[in-house]
Amino acid sequence: MENDFLPLLGTDYIEFYVGNAKQAAHYYKTAFGFQGIAYAGPETGMKDRASYVVSQNQLTLVFTSALRPDHPISQQVLQHGDSVKAIALRVEDAEKAWKETTQRGALSEMEPRKLSDNAGTVGMSAIKLYGDTIHLFIERKKYSGVFMPGYIGWETEYNPSPTGLLYVDHCVGNVGWNQMNRWVSFYEKVMGFKNILSFDDTDISTEYSALMSKVMSNGNGFVKFPINEPAEGKRKSQVEEFLEFFNGEGVQHVALATKDIVKTVRELMKRGVEFLKVPGSYYDDLEARVGKIDEDLEPLKDMGILVDRDPDGYLLQIFSKPVQDRPTVFFEIIQRKGAKSFGKGNFKALFEAIEREQEKRGNI
Ligand code: FE2
Repeated sequence: MENDFLPLLGTDYIEFYVGNAKQAAHYYKTAFGFQGIAYAGPETGMKDRASYVVSQNQLTLVFTSALRPDHPISQQVLQHGDSVKAIALRVEDAEKAWKETTQRGALSEMEPRKLSDNAGTVGMSAIKLYGDTIHLFIERKKYSGVFMPGYIGWETEYNPSPTGLLYVDHCVGNVGWNQMNRWVSFYEKVMGFKNILSFDDTDISTEYSALMSKVMSNGNGFVKFPINEPAEGKRKSQVEEFLEFFNGEGVQHVALATKDIVKTVRELMKRGVEFLKVPGSYYDDLEARVGKIDEDLEPLKDMGILVDRDPDGYLLQIFSKPVQDRPTVFFEIIQRKGAKSFGKGNFKALFEAIEREQEKRGNI
């Protein structure tokens, strides 16, 4: 692409700060079918924290806990609960990525540095994003180790089978009242992204908790970040509930792609992952709304998998319940069959399902 000053090769990994990294890693192995890859902690010379790296196909997740209460990681977990700290993006040149973005107004989180061991060198740098979230830039073309210097291979005898999760499709941020356009212009000016889709509160019945959203995409489309802000509705916006329990702005959901959503979700459910349910009536007029689809309706209805169509094709999607006790971060499982959009046609059914959960929590 012409003038792409920040060429991105994709999402490198997503790092969560959590209260108990050892148990979080076990949950993602057991429930989502991730495989243990690497570990860093006191035994490897990282005295103040422990990090577990798990992967599945192109997906890599890192779970990190600090070992002492006064550590900044512990403070962030106290503030936000278990949460996404870093969306790491793979680049050819981490120093250039940092220079290009900080020159355009990004605040530096970490100046460019090189980490080396006998498997080679990883370049990294980082800039600040909304809330305490950051973007890391990772350059690993000269590295052949398990994850990065400082980590050792993590092998256990407990290796639940994968569930068909492939890569990060998109990663959604919730920002405060009237902050969406600020972060849209951050992605435009600082990172060279384009706004590819917008939703406002008129896309969503005002009976239901409203939000506004703009989807930002990088030049090659490998990396997409929808940004949500709350909107006034008759009821408390789901984004507002998030902001309250998260204690600020942060990542709301990560969408994980699969090639066979029925198989993947069936497996996830078997392993205890909980999903939002839409009423059976959602499926009554599905074909009228989205036309013919390749999948049998019955399993979709059984599991609550949603379908939406756009000019390019259709998509199937389902949303997990929050994966911690705070009503904050959750996952979306998505299978695209041509569609490039994000399931706007499902907003109403989905928001009603979210509202039922909010109501149970007394936050509406
Ligand atoms: Fe999504």
